Amino acid sequence: MVVGSVAAREDVQRMVDTAVSTYDKLSILINNAGITCDGLTTRIKEGQPHYLSDDKWDAVLEVNLKSTWLCCQLAAVPMIAAGYGRIVNTASIAALGNIGQANYAASKAGIIGLTNTLALEWARLGIAVNCVAPGGVNTNMTKTIPEKIVENLLKGIPFGRFAEPEEIAAVHAFLTSKEASYITGQTLFIDGGVSVGA
Ligand SMILES: NC(=O)c1ccc[n+]([C@@H]2O[C@H](COP(=O)([O-])OP(=O)(O)OC[C@H]3O[C@@H](n4cnc5c(N)ncnc54)[C@H](O)[C@@H]3O)[C@@H](O)[C@H]2O)c1
Repeated sequence: MVVGSVAAREDVQRMVDTAVSTYDKLSILINNAGITCDGLTTRIKEGQPHYLSDDKWDAVLEVNLKSTWLCCQLAAVPMIAAGYGRIVNTASIAALGNIGQANYAASKAGIIGLTNTLALEWARLGIAVNCVAPGGVNTNMTKTIPEKIVENLLKGIPFGRFAEPEEIAAVHAFLTSKEASYITGQTLFIDGGVSVGA
């Protein structure tokens, strides 16, 4: 195990070096760390508490988007040397837009653009780069959403429930498997049908 921040280049380098020295290779990278730090973009009323500050913007872009870039760039070195790699990034349905989450939505839309670009740049090098975009998932991230808001969200989900983490992890795993050998540059929305009606 390596302890560090995925948003810090030296920590990510340590993570890559440890993987390579432990397993002699690095074939699979799943970028999954993420944070939210919500707030409306502008104060509509004076004194409104949740305002999207520069600090909130920077924190979310660093941990969500910069980390994905750093991990991809540094993990690609041993993958390119081996002529093989499978990378799966984690976006969100919020990439399509979500009130109060301009920073999070921008970071997740950025991850999709990054995924598409790396897929094009690295296909000839044997590296596939894909992305999953979950809707609501039962994790710590959604535990703090007030019950009333969850009730409303569930009404908008065709399946009528949030996903379990295993249902997202199964798609990450599929995209790294040999069954997915001809898939690259794709973003798979795992959202119980929400994006179909969006
Ligand atoms: N839960 C949802 O409804 C939902 C929906 C769409 C997308 N996602 C995405 O799924 C991914 C996983 O989120 P989750 O729901 O499990 O959230 P979570 O809060 O339960 O877990 C996030 C994890 O990221 C780690 N992390 C945060 N900052 C880090 C850093 N700088 N370095 C290393 N690790 C760091 C945390 O320690 C934590 O283990 C995230 O990218 C999130 O944006 C979640």
